[in-house]
Amino acid sequence: VSLCIIVAVTSKSFRQLDSAKSELEEYIANKKTDINPRFRLHYHVVPPVGWMNDPNGFSFYKGEYHLFYQFYPYESAWGPMHWGHVSSPNLVDWKQLPTALIPEEEMCFSGSAVIDGDDLVLMYTGRLTTDTEPFFNETQFLAYSSDGINFEKYEGNPVLPAAPNGSPDFRDPKVWKHGDHWYVVIGSRTEDERGNVLLYRSLDMKSWEFLSVIGESKGNMGYMWECPDFFELDGKFVLLMSPQGMEPQGDRYKNTHQTGFIIGSFNYETFEFVPEVEFQEIDYGHDFYATQTMEKDGKRYVIGWFNMWDVPYPEDVDGWAGALTMVRELRLVGERVLMKPIEEMVSLREHSIIDGALEPNGVIELQKTGEIIVNGDLSQNIELLIEGSNGGGKVWLRWDPAVGKVVVDRGSDDVRQVEWEPIGSHSWRIFLDASSLELFCGEGEVVFSSRVYPDGDWVVTNLSAQALDVEAFHLRRSVPE
Ligand code: FRU
Repeated sequence: VSLCIIVAVTSKSFRQLDSAKSELEEYIANKKTDINPRFRLHYHVVPPVGWMNDPNGFSFYKGEYHLFYQFYPYESAWGPMHWGHVSSPNLVDWKQLPTALIPEEEMCFSGSAVIDGDDLVLMYTGRLTTDTEPFFNETQFLAYSSDGINFEKYEGNPVLPAAPNGSPDFRDPKVWKHGDHWYVVIGSRTEDERGNVLLYRSLDMKSWEFLSVIGESKGNMGYMWECPDFFELDGKFVLLMSPQGMEPQGDRYKNTHQTGFIIGSFNYETFEFVPEVEFQEIDYGHDFYATQTMEKDGKRYVIGWFNMWDVPYPEDVDGWAGALTMVRELRLVGERVLMKPIEEMVSLREHSIIDGALEPNGVIELQKTGEIIVNGDLSQNIELLIEGSNGGGKVWLRWDPAVGKVVVDRGSDDVRQVEWEPIGSHSWRIFLDASSLELFCGEGEVVFSSRVYPDGDWVVTNLSAQALDVEAFHLRRSVPE
């Protein structure tokens, strides 16, 4: 009898969830028709409607890449988190899929995905509301799918109800497999408000053993480390994470929160991570946060949220807000993790716009998208002004050999800059989309990702005293409108 009751209750709640999901898809389809397309990106993943933050569950399952994201469909502002979902055959062409997770007693915070046998398994933070201060408790949940589209939450959730020190901040599980074990890193904080990353292992992802604290702020690295990721890269281990609360120091740490890496060595017997190179930002732009990586065929891919917390989101009046960066490939060279556009990006090139010298004051007219490869003489200044054909979206890119810095200047002192010492190529690759700029210098040793909002199409002017050698392409649409 009791078994029948359990089955009846469970199938009733599945039915309720199913109808909530189909109502949501109907809501999205209707709401989409109200969206103003002017800033919608053409080759970056954006939410169909509403709000997006972190990329989640970046994985490859049954022949397709899967990518999920923090999603709130009902407003272009953060709200109770769902998981939006897209898939791709090649990491550049993305297809919208039904919302994968909707909140019930838990908000569905960030997490990751792994393949276990025939299943795509999501491990994510279930944030539960409590009636005692601080009014929330973060726990870890699982959800399973055998088709990569429909997900069922595990009935034994939460699988990890609390951090060892009881901190309510305990989120963003990133799972991987090594040998017979699943491992997970989770972001948290100490009692005295220092960010850290906890390491666990499990044989089935349902019961977990706490192993070690693999990283912890010594006091100057913020109060909470979000979205940790831990992986081997070119013979070293990399702890990539997003610390909240680092103080600005000169040109560094000027965003609300940072994303960066520590390089070191790690031992699967002692579970100790020994840092060898201290924290460095991975991207120097205005809008880059909450990264997630995945590995396939020996390549380590990364994607980030193409925004920042607590800044204006000019597209919010248009019915949506938030984007993901293009996928990049990571390499480790010396003391730095390099980020390069993936090779597949060239498949977006539709037609050439210029191939040759761009004289001083010369202009390139693009549409909403473009890739521009710039080669200049680095012993002289370089300056490009990128702006909307009807104004707005102004951003200056500069190189000054006297200080050896690359500058991305959105005007009104909204500047990000960093030293650049090319380790190979001397060129810049600039990717423009309807409201975004990504600048890759050289081999990816210096990268800037910034949102910029032009009125109309893009126009690029060479403000340098030197002629630049330039190649530019129009890029095709590869995400749904
Ligand atoms: C990072 C973050 C994560 C959290 C999610 C909530 O941007 O704060 O730590 O899981 O966003 O949406």
